[in-house]
Amino acid sequence: MDPHRIVAIYGSPRRRGNTATLLKQAVAGAQEAGARVEEIVLRDLKLSPCLEIYSCKQDGECRIHDDFQKVRERVLSAGGLMLASPIFYYAVSAHTKILMDRFHSLWVKKHWVHPRRDLAPAARRKGLFISAGATRGQRLFEGTLLSIRYFFDTLDMDLWKSLLYRGLENEGEVQEHPDYLKEAYQTGRQLAETLNAGTPVTAIDS
Ligand SMILES: Cc1cc2nc3c(=O)[nH]c(=O)nc-3n(C[C@H](O)[C@H](O)[C@H](O)COP(=O)(O)O)c2cc1C
Repeated sequence: MDPHRIVAIYGSPRRRGNTATLLKQAVAGAQEAGARVEEIVLRDLKLSPCLEIYSCKQDGECRIHDDFQKVRERVLSAGGLMLASPIFYYAVSAHTKILMDRFHSLWVKKHWVHPRRDLAPAARRKGLFISAGATRGQRLFEGTLLSIRYFFDTLDMDLWKSLLYRGLENEGEVQEHPDYLKEAYQTGRQLAETLNAGTPVTAIDS
């Protein structure tokens, strides 16, 4: 467990899309503040969707053996997570959702296999969510934020901050908004500083 390490997960199918560009900025900011950041690009991984067989009820381990185990270990041993996903039909991308669902094995472990009380707030880890959508509706991120909050909770993580950008459609369009890029950079930096200053967080599943 390294409370100062941050995992950055790229959830868009586009390698140089808007959320990837924003997350890269956040990564650079965190590194500048001295954090060790590990980047994971979901589209490069072999990840099956959850098959709802619930063999995780035995011990909280997912029985589908693919790249999930590696991601799980990396995420659970880090103090912070930066997750970026575009909005697809008012939800996260399919790549991101597959990962979220696979972590249900951890929910099962915490609630059914080894039930335990929630960690004290100071011991919870910190998560940053970055997203972008093409339209400008007020409710664009509403459903997604709800599922991200619950997902982070499964990871014993607070949604520390979210960066949500409307009106971004084409690949790399965010480059036309230096203020967004700057905000992402500064937020990454801030996350690293917060982790450095905070109470050591607890390993939840090592
Ligand atoms: C399958 C699909 C579904 C989408 N659904 C929405 C949507 O519901 N609302 C929206 O505002 N934009 C939607 N978009 C547009 C993307 O959110 C937008 O282009 C975003 O900037 C893509 O981010 P990325 O470059 O990081 O992938 C959709 C795009 C795709 C490909």
